[in-house]
This record gives sequence, structure tokens and C-alpha cells, in this order.
Amino acid sequence: MSDIRTFHARKGRVSAAERDGIDRLLPVFGVAAVELDPQTIFSGLPIILEIGFGLGDATIEMALAEPERGIIAADVHTPGVGRLLNRIDELGLTNVRVLHGDAIDYLRTFVPDGCLNECRAFFPDPWPKARHHKRRLFRPDLVHLMAQKLEPGGYIHVATDWADYADAMRTVCAAEDELTLVADSAEPLRHRPTTKFEATGLRKGHDVRDLLYQRLTTTNGQR
Ligand SMILES: C[S@@+](CC[C@H](N)C(=O)[O-])C[C@H]1O[C@@H](n2cnc3c(N)ncnc32)[C@H](O)[C@@H]1O
Repeated sequence: MSDIRTFHARKGRVSAAERDGIDRLLPVFGVAAVELDPQTIFSGLPIILEIGFGLGDATIEMALAEPERGIIAADVHTPGVGRLLNRIDELGLTNVRVLHGDAIDYLRTFVPDGCLNECRAFFPDPWPKARHHKRRLFRPDLVHLMAQKLEPGGYIHVATDWADYADAMRTVCAAEDELTLVADSAEPLRHRPTTKFEATGLRKGHDVRDLLYQRLTTTNGQR
């Protein structure tokens, strides 16, 4: 199961501005394929990994609202990567870095255990067909991986507009020994901005759930 990708192979047209953003700015604001050093990437600020930022508008809002935390924003979708890089540059943001690639590969290969303050995934691909559930980001092996990479007391924050995926998330996260549920809410938690995919879901009449989990502060099952 571990090599099953969680994303669609989307083509998507890359505009000239997005291509230029990637060529010029990925070397500046991109995340290098080397072991993550929490002391240097954002000068020791707590680190958030956002898996699947899409177009990145919500990422920018969160980075502006939380200058005291650093965001590694990951997506495989090239147009969104170019767009986010251009926005970071225009706004002069120093607390966002961009990973153009598979966040799971990055977590496995380059992120030391216990070094993230938060993993967030807003409206991860729902993979609604039963035969595709194995592609979901919130499946046991990947939730375990995320939990391992959190510092004690660190958070997983996820939002979805698919009720059955929310149920599956609850089941998978409840089975992960290292995690405890903090909140299960019909309102956005922790000032989460509305995202593009969320807006589409709301127009279709979907209900949105935010789930917040925390890694236990000790490893023997006690908090
Ligand atoms: C449904 S979209 C949601 C985008 C955005 N968060 C929003 O709410 O508008 C899910 C995004 O996750 C990205 N994604 C899925 N699996 C990923 C992975 N393993 N690493 C990086 N990005 C991933 C997809 O490319 C896609 O852009």
C-alpha cells in the first residue's frame, strides 16, 4: 500500500507567469531534497507541513495571519506551485517554503521524527469510489507517518466536505495510538480560511467538517 499515490495525475495548463515563477523562484523558496533542519529552515520557528495547497490562496492567508510559524506548502500540481511562488515573492513572505512534489515521499525521506508542529490537509482528494479508498491521504499507514513526524503536543488538522471520508478519518485517527481528538467541528477550526475546493463543495450543498488531533506528549500512552 505504501507506494500508492494520493494524488491524481492532473495535466493543467501552466501559464507563462506560473512557468516563470517556477524557473525563477523555486530555487529561492523551494524546499531542497535534503534532511529538514528545523533550526535553519525558518530560524527555529514551529513548522507546519501543508499537504495539498492547491492554488495556495489559503496558504498565503494563513502565512500572513501566523508570522510566528513557518509553512512548508506541498503540492504536485505545477500551475498552483508557480502561482504560490509568485505570491510569496510579491508579498515578501519569509515564512513559506514550497515543496513541488509528493509530500509523502518528503515526509518519509527527509523529515526527522518529532520535528513538525502541525500537519494540515484541507480538502484532501476524497477518492469517493470504494476501489480508490486505498489512495486516500487519511489511511492507516500515512496517518501513522504523520503522527511520527509531529513533535509531542503537535497537531494534525484536516477538513473535508465528504461525510464518509470524515467518518473514515475518525476511524483511522482513533486507531492511531499516538493521537487524541481535540475537536470535531462543523465550524472552521483555528481560523482556517475558506479554500477553493471548500467553496466548490459548499456551492454543491456539502457539509464541511474540521477535525483536529494532537500527538500525545508522552510515548507510553499517557498524556
Ligand atoms: C482536492 S485538492 C485541495 C486543494 C486545496 N487544499 C483546497 O482546499 O482548495 C487536493 C490537493 O492535494 C494535492 N495532493 C494530493 N496528494 C498529495 C501529496 N501526496 N503531496 C502533495 N500534494 C498532494 C493535489 O495535487 C491537490 O492539489
